[in-house]
Amino acid sequence: MGVTQWAVFVAALSLASGQRNPSISFISKETVTDIGATALLKCSVQFASESPVMWFKQASGHNVNDVPISTNNILIAQEPRFSIDREGDTVTLKISDIQESDQGTYECRVQISVRESISGTVLLAVRLKPVISDNSTRSVIVSEGETAEIACYATGFPTPEITWRRDNNFLLPTGKAIHRGNVLRMENIQKIARGTYYCVADNGVGRGSKRNVAVEVEFAPVITVPRPKVYQAMQYNMDLECLVEAYPPPSITWLKDGIVLNNNQHQMMSMFPITDQTTDSNLRTLTIEKKQYGNYTCRAANRLGTTESVVELVEAFIPVCPPACDVPGYSTNSRAPPLVLASAVLVAVLVGAVTAAGLRHH
Ligand SMILES: *[C@@H]1O[C@H](CO)[C@@H](O)[C@H](O)[C@H]1NC(C)=O
Ligand SMILES: *[C@@H]1O[C@H](CO)[C@@H](O)[C@H](O)[C@H]1NC(C)=O
Repeated sequence: MGVTQWAVFVAALSLASGQRNPSISFISKETVTDIGATALLKCSVQFASESPVMWFKQASGHNVNDVPISTNNILIAQEPRFSIDREGDTVTLKISDIQESDQGTYECRVQISVRESISGTVLLAVRLKPVISDNSTRSVIVSEGETAEIACYATGFPTPEITWRRDNNFLLPTGKAIHRGNVLRMENIQKIARGTYYCVADNGVGRGSKRNVAVEVEFAPVITVPRPKVYQAMQYNMDLECLVEAYPPPSITWLKDGIVLNNNQHQMMSMFPITDQTTDSNLRTLTIEKKQYGNYTCRAANRLGTTESVVELVEAFIPVCPPACDVPGYSTNSRAPPLVLASAVLVAVLVGAVTAAGLRHH
């Protein structure tokens, strides 16, 4: 039989049985469900009592072909969570304990003849809690004045909304508390903008997903001198101090008359951290001799630059306490112990302390 003849035959058949063209009179609307829930997909047909009504899952993901699920009230798919029910003109596909893999487009197909079918589709969407994608930023290092961009992407359904915040409710460099969008761009970033940022992905399913992003801002050293001029009498000790803020951590040196100083009988240098980016650099001049008066330079350098500041040690005629106290050469130290301490000097200080203690007892 040729095509034309076949068509005539089908038409004749339809006429003979007094039927009108089969049609799908109803199919479920797009269905959104939660994991573990049950979905009912209904398909109602008209004038199709002779025709098989089938459910397919349309090709998607690793299924390159449509997957047949059922025909009339017979389940084909080997899936215990699926069941099928045909009641009159309505065929209902019931999917229980919904899994993520169940999402997709389901097709109700009425096979009118070998050649002819009609079909309708319904989308089954599964609500999925947000999961932040691996291509999101974990940390970023930029130099001050540059532009930093941190990005956050998340999967989930419905599409999660991404918001950015800072730790401790600090304001974002934009001046606001919250930024919405995948990318947070910070132009001309300042060192104050360093810290922890949070990306939060939320779509109303579950509790949302959060990732913290470390933003590190590199900057050249900034030196603060608490006392630019210090006074001390000869034969006493004095502390010269520079507060250095820098990232990455700087190397700090002290110079006098253009010469880099080392720890020796005239001076001892120590450093201790104040915050994670601020270091207190201390130069103790010991049993000061005439030639030790003058200008001292503290110099801090990292790969973003070098900064210098001057502290002047001026001769005084009465000892200044602290650090100088009753005993020449011995000084009380009211600070936290320095991290870097020349052991020889430590011994000297200890000997001094013991001597002082001994003196007090007698
Ligand atoms: C990041 O990954 C998600 C999928 O996990 C993808 O949808 C998104 O387009 C990716 N973004 C970029 C910028 O690569
Ligand atoms: C130290 O530097 C200051 C300012 O640069 C200057 O006025 C002063 O004379 C210097 N002191 C000595 C002892 O060179």
